[in-house]
Amino acid sequence: MNSIEIKALTQAAGTHAMLVSLLIETIAAGGSVSFMHPLSQEAAGAFWAKSLASAARGERAVLGAWDGEVLVGTVTLLLDCPPNQPHRAEIAKLMTRVEHRGKGVATRLMRAAENLAVEKGRTLLVLDTATEEGASGLYERLGFTLAGEIPDYALKPHGGLTGTLIYWKRIGQFR
Ligand SMILES: CC(C)(COP(=O)(O)OP(=O)(O)OC[C@H]1O[C@@H](n2cnc3c(N)ncnc32)[C@H](O)[C@@H]1OP(=O)(O)O)[C@@H](O)C(=O)NCCC(=O)NCCS
Repeated sequence: MNSIEIKALTQAAGTHAMLVSLLIETIAAGGSVSFMHPLSQEAAGAFWAKSLASAARGERAVLGAWDGEVLVGTVTLLLDCPPNQPHRAEIAKLMTRVEHRGKGVATRLMRAAENLAVEKGRTLLVLDTATEEGASGLYERLGFTLAGEIPDYALKPHGGLTGTLIYWKRIGQFR
C-alpha cells in the first residue's frame, strides 16, 4: 500500500465526480453510509458538493486515498462541533472502492484523520457504524471503544433495519 497517498480533497470537478462514483458504488454494495440504493447521480452529487463546500469553510476535512490519479477511498472528519465540545471531532463517510478493499486503505485513511484531529487540538473522536456489515472490527483494531448499540437505528441500503454501534477514542495527549 506504499503507492497510496492520503490528501485533503478540494472542490475540483474531477475529485467531485470520483467521490460521486465511490458513494454510489458503496451504497450499491450494501455499505451503510446514510443513503438508500439506488442512489442517483444528482443526490450523490448534491451531497458531495455540500460536503466539499463545508470543507472549504474549515468545518470538516474530506480526506481521499489516491492510487495515482484514481480516488480509491475517503473519510470525513467533522470538526464543526457545538461550543461546549471544542475538544471533539467525529468520523463519517469512511468508504473504499470495492476492488481496493482489504488492502489497508481505510486503515490509512483513519490514521490520517486521527492525526489531523490531533493537529486541530482535538482529544476525543466519536463515530458510529452499522451493526450489520459495518466496520466495527476495523475501528476496534484502531483502538476505539464501544459505548453501546442502538437497535433498529437505520435502514440498510437494500432495505431492512440494522442497529448502530457507537464508538469513541481518546486521542493526542489523552491517548
Ligand atoms: C469498511 C471499509 C471502509 C473498509 O475498507 P478497507 O479499505 O477494505 O479497510 P482495510 O483494508 O483497512 O481493512 C479491512 C480489512 O482488510 C484487512 N487488511 C488491512 N490491511 C491489509 C493488507 N495489507 N492486506 C490484506 N488485508 C488487509 C484488515 O485486517 C481488515 O480486516 P477485517 O475485514 O477483519 O476488518 C469498506 O469495507 C467499505 O467501504 N465498506 C462500506 C462502507 C462502510 O461500511 N463504511 C463504514 C461506515 S461507518
